[in-house]
Amino acid sequence: MNEAIADLTEERMYIEWDEKFATGMEIVDTQHRGLIHILNGLYQSIGEGRGEAALHGIFGELQRYADYHFDTEERLLKKQAVAPRHQAEHVIRHVAYRHRVADLRARHDEGEQLIPIQVLAFISDWWLEHIQTCDRIFETLAEGAEGGKAAGAAENGPWQAR
Ligand SMILES: [Fe+2]
Repeated sequence: MNEAIADLTEERMYIEWDEKFATGMEIVDTQHRGLIHILNGLYQSIGEGRGEAALHGIFGELQRYADYHFDTEERLLKKQAVAPRHQAEHVIRHVAYRHRVADLRARHDEGEQLIPIQVLAFISDWWLEHIQTCDRIFETLAEGAEGGKAAGAAENGPWQAR
């Protein structure tokens, strides 16, 4: 990879918070910012040549913060009485993430040489996709809470709408 391409690739890996990520539900947005902060921490470590050394700690942080975040989301969906099939869809995606990160961590712990920038790209893609698709349901719920769109919109869920 020549230097220009490497620069371009790495530049794309830094995630700037964008209003398009916002759901309007403060607790969800705050936690998404926290996750992006962890990912940018790995990005920074890679830039400083400490990517390999940072991986183990990052896996732990990503697992702990994701557990905390998924728990918040699942409790919110339950509390807001979102249709059970949508709750289940969310849980399935959360389980898939946990398996993927646990698998990467296990491979790393067993001595497999993972490429930090690839790990970062893979995990960042998952989060950005999650925030911009499945977590749109929180936007609908936030609007409902403010007396905007009817709760029926949440019933339809983002999976039908998009
Ligand atoms: Fe989320």
